[in-house]
Amino acid sequence: MKANEKAVLLEINKEAAKYFYTLLRSPRGEMASKYFEKRQLSPETMRKFGLGYSDQYSDDLYRYLKQKGYDDEILRQSGLITIKESKGVYDRFWNRAMFPIMDAHNKVIGFGGRVMGDGEPKYLNSPETKVFDKGRNLYGLNFARASRREYLLLCEGYMDVISLHQAGFDNAVASLGTALTSGHASLLKRYTKAVYLTYDSDGAGVKAALRAIPILNEVGITTKVINMKPYKDPDEFIKNLGAEEYEKRIQQAENSFMFEIRILQDNFDLNDPDGKTKFFQEVAKKLLGFSEELERNNYIEAVAKKYHISYEDLRKMVVNMAIKLG
Ligand code: CTP
Ligand code: MN
Ligand code: MN
Ligand code: MN
Ligand code: MN
Repeated sequence: MKANEKAVLLEINKEAAKYFYTLLRSPRGEMASKYFEKRQLSPETMRKFGLGYSDQYSDDLYRYLKQKGYDDEILRQSGLITIKESKGVYDRFWNRAMFPIMDAHNKVIGFGGRVMGDGEPKYLNSPETKVFDKGRNLYGLNFARASRREYLLLCEGYMDVISLHQAGFDNAVASLGTALTSGHASLLKRYTKAVYLTYDSDGAGVKAALRAIPILNEVGITTKVINMKPYKDPDEFIKNLGAEEYEKRIQQAENSFMFEIRILQDNFDLNDPDGKTKFFQEVAKKLLGFSEELERNNYIEAVAKKYHISYEDLRKMVVNMAIKLG
């Protein structure tokens, strides 16, 4: 790889972001700007996040970038242009509302593009390139890193991040259409000690949270979980209930261990003696994960209190489980 190849790819992304940005504000971008307005984004928010529009022409970005002097090979590598021997040249993004993705240093490393109605895929993203590593970058981190709050809000989507920032929560970030990785966790660790998960309230969101919690804890980040119900995600929550209510949800965020236990509980019938026993055996196993005695006892106390069993019974169960598991 040539030494300056990455620099050229970043330059191409920047040119493309400017192109989409300008198009959004031109007569051709009217549908897209109506779309963003419908989603209640202010002009200031749209400017801050560099939102744009990719036109309905199939190769207008290609022609624009060619005219800037870039050759086909580097344009192909940028992921913005598809070049097929037989079928010709196509822009990757076509008639979509565009979200440039910046790294922590404000460099445009890729794009997400949303269909403006129904249609599949809902979001199309840049492929991984020499400058776009999805597992090591987080959307919104370029802004969130400057936040004065001592925790970061981790959500699922571009629109969640943007809505949260617009509502004053300047510490929101999202992974880029991928599950959270240990690369994300190490990146987060550089900027914060605590992460509040604010994922979608559906089954997929709960599953994603259950997977993310240990990955974050592994690098020493403490985690809490924010409940978005009865709404689907932070964007919808804020649109319906506003920033003050969201702030309350932050204050009420659930300890992530207690969240895990609560989700685990759905698999057991606590009204049945066998179900109840099995549930607490599973809980006892999980409690063994705390190697610090004081910490473990604190959790035993919290679980016992919440699920109405005696502290001593649960503590004995944990001790027995330790013996059983050797
Ligand atoms: N995503 C993706 N590709 C898809 C669907 C989703 O990359 N086909 C990613 C996007 O980053 C998206 C996030 O996963 O922002 C969360 O998906 P989802 O909850 O379905 O979308 P929302 O962010 O809620 O999108 P919107 O509010 O625009 O409907
Ligand atoms: Mn185009
Ligand atoms: Mn979702
Ligand atoms: Mn949404
Ligand atoms: Mn969502």
